[in-house]
Amino acid sequence: MKQDDKAWLQCINCHTIYPLNYSGYICVKCGDLLDVVLDLDKVEVRDWRVFNDRARGVWRYRELIPVDYSKRVTLNEGGTPLIECNRLNRWVGLKKLYIKFEGANPTGSFKDRGMTVAITKALDLNVKGVICASTGNTAASLAAYSARAGLPCITVIPEQAALGKVFQAIAHGAIIVRIRGSFDQALRFVFSKAEELGYYILNSVNAWRLEGQKTLGYEIAEEIKNEYSIFIPVGNCGNIAAVWKGLTELKNLDLIKDAPRMIGVQAEGASPFAKMVKENRESLQPIDNPETIASAIRIGRPVNWKKALRAVRESRGDAVIVSDKEILEAQTAIARLEGLGVEPASAASIAGAKKAVEEGGVDSDETVVCICTGHLLKDPNPELFKPKTLIEIEPDEEKLVKELTEIISNRAIQAIN
Ligand code: F0G
Repeated sequence: MKQDDKAWLQCINCHTIYPLNYSGYICVKCGDLLDVVLDLDKVEVRDWRVFNDRARGVWRYRELIPVDYSKRVTLNEGGTPLIECNRLNRWVGLKKLYIKFEGANPTGSFKDRGMTVAITKALDLNVKGVICASTGNTAASLAAYSARAGLPCITVIPEQAALGKVFQAIAHGAIIVRIRGSFDQALRFVFSKAEELGYYILNSVNAWRLEGQKTLGYEIAEEIKNEYSIFIPVGNCGNIAAVWKGLTELKNLDLIKDAPRMIGVQAEGASPFAKMVKENRESLQPIDNPETIASAIRIGRPVNWKKALRAVRESRGDAVIVSDKEILEAQTAIARLEGLGVEPASAASIAGAKKAVEEGGVDSDETVVCICTGHLLKDPNPELFKPKTLIEIEPDEEKLVKELTEIISNRAIQAIN
């Protein structure tokens, strides 16, 4: 490396350094994951004022993202609302609860933060096309950003990917490969065949994805100045690692005093990472047939588990396991108490916070931020989300008024009781 380099790629295990134009994903020496590393002494950010006059969003923090800003491929991602929940907090058992609503991103999930950076990098590397395996959101986001960049795109999805996400990938013109199998099998296919196809992998094993997603941490830290903990759903273990990377950089730049605890939440039937944390193990025991209603995090072999473990350990964080029933109850509570629509995987963060309060892992006086990663419409499953009240009736106005009057007065009685 040259002495004046401001950033490089580095193996998390053997610390071998690669230049920023390295187009691989893992260390050729030991096969471990790579990080994008910034030399923070050379970053010209000494206080938050650098960002003040800029629009909110990923590129507000351009000095901390080592790609060519002038060539960015963007849909104005990030800058999502941090919403204080003054009804849901009581349901969860907390004094102060915020939802960071990532469903407000252009394609409806946090993946857009990573894609704007990684697609910009892909163009810089002059790749022929891009490919990902996905439970759905990565596919939707990659399809959109590659369309904007004019790059061919292949998405490999499991049979049961959620409808809204597949629809997005189709709409944006990606080649869709539907594997009759799991996400883990889709990812194995992508890892083994991308090179043969000459396509660049944009799963979260690609460190450039996490480099965009880390801005989630920047945004929360810019808004909340007191102490708090973060609850975040975990699947392939990329996002929790990315958010922690962002927060660590802020701490090393002296832009924050203390970083929050990172608490990863997984669904019972797909919880290899959470089990490892809870049992204080040093390595991950993969699961062959992960099962959960939260299809976005139905993953048995999370690629980034080492980075995620680092996030939990360094932040003195934890992991929580929630059942599908708890996830669905949380999804309903968010929707009905706050008017926020989130998909099941996102609701896992709220379910996890509730469980942590019940089990004593979090004090009810603590401030908690739950990251709700994707929009409700991603996974429109009428079997899961039953209407509170549904009247099916012919267009007879008298009858309709009679039924409604009855329902309304019953509700009033219920409310009194
Ligand atoms: N929440 C949602 C809505 C997701 O789509 C994902 C991952 C996660 C949470 C977990 O994030 O994998 O970084 O730990 N979705 C990936 C996909 C796997 O293909 O869309 P993670």
